[in-house]
Amino acid sequence: MSNTTPKLPIYLDHAATTPCDPRVVQAMLPYFTEMFGNPGSRNHSFGWAAEDAVTKARQRVADLIGADSKEIIFTSGSTESNNLAIKGAANMYAKKPAGQSNRGHIISVIHEHKAVLDPCKRLEKEGFDVTLIDPKADGTVTREMIEAVIRDDTILVTVMWANNEIGTFNEIPQIGELCHDKGIIFHTDATQWVGKMPTNVKTDNVDLLSLSGHKMYGPKGVGALYVRRRRPRVRIIALQEGGGQERGFRAGTANVTGIVGLGKACELCAQDMDSERERLLKLRTKLETMVTDALDVTQINGHPTKRLAHLTNISFGFVEGESLMMALKEIAMSSGSACTSASLEPSYVLKALGVGDDLAHSSLRISMGRWTTEEQIDYAGEKIIEAVNKLRDLSPLYDMHNEGIDITKIEWAAH
Ligand SMILES: Cc1ncc(COP(=O)(O)O)c(C=O)c1O
Repeated sequence: MSNTTPKLPIYLDHAATTPCDPRVVQAMLPYFTEMFGNPGSRNHSFGWAAEDAVTKARQRVADLIGADSKEIIFTSGSTESNNLAIKGAANMYAKKPAGQSNRGHIISVIHEHKAVLDPCKRLEKEGFDVTLIDPKADGTVTREMIEAVIRDDTILVTVMWANNEIGTFNEIPQIGELCHDKGIIFHTDATQWVGKMPTNVKTDNVDLLSLSGHKMYGPKGVGALYVRRRRPRVRIIALQEGGGQERGFRAGTANVTGIVGLGKACELCAQDMDSERERLLKLRTKLETMVTDALDVTQINGHPTKRLAHLTNISFGFVEGESLMMALKEIAMSSGSACTSASLEPSYVLKALGVGDDLAHSSLRISMGRWTTEEQIDYAGEKIIEAVNKLRDLSPLYDMHNEGIDITKIEWAAH
């Protein structure tokens, strides 16, 4: 254990967003100024330079996920990629035209990101049937679970690769194989997975895959959708019309600087992926061991091993979540997913795993990244232990628990 206090505040919320790698910024800079051309300008060198840059970036994104560059569509991020994939495929493969009911069946999972759930909800209003299955208590989704709900009219399955709140990952290659056997289109929201884990859309049987720049040390506001071109050739209907860019799948002048940044970020992730994962796993193990050794009534949520190395989600019994966050202001973490922490609802992801409201409220998502150091983890671990102990000192319920009283059995009088 080191005695030095690291520079504060400490950022441990990389699942919400990552800093841009300086090498990414460096690669982007010339495209704001000297090489500012529109890649659609086919008749001068400014346009050609921009187009070359976009082509190079497209190849880099494709290389990271084992795709062909023609299969990559640039978007504004995973929210857009998910919308394009889910609505685009549902409308393309619909069994009946718009305005009618029973247009086709879609399968997803209740602990998906809202950027998947909301497009599914929209499609339900537009005449599709949607089945949302529950994950297992460890957060995983298996091939058998999907197989059990497939129907003759199922046209699309969408299952995230790794969950943003608990880091647990799913049997994507097996689910993809099932979908291919049944002739069903398979989409995965791989926002939290790509760049951290080896990915090959071909052998992993994925038809449509969403990824986002700002989760992998690239810029915000840029992402991509992979659309399979062979076995099967997947077709989608564009959501946005206009100048016909991105082969008609996504109209609008390309975000050249963002795309260059995304390409560079993909290249960098590929370079150090395995060593980075090993380093972060050691840090996470250290943090989890520290905290669980020092504190009782503490639970690590999600699957014990099928979990992204850089992320942990821990619930602390007998602690009020907001007070815990307030006590730990110098450490940036999440008390649920970044996108739901604005509301005080307990995390729907943790609820889906069967975690009770109290524990869900008092959970921390801690996600480390490329520049997280051992000193930061030591410091964060110590501060978390100190804060939980202080809050428990004030908790009559914790005292009762220590006296052996089962507080779930107490009948509280209402006045
Ligand atoms: C699993 C998952 N899907 C989708 C998104 C949305 O991505 P973006 O911010 O690129 O729109 C996020 C971001 O939090 C995410 O974690």
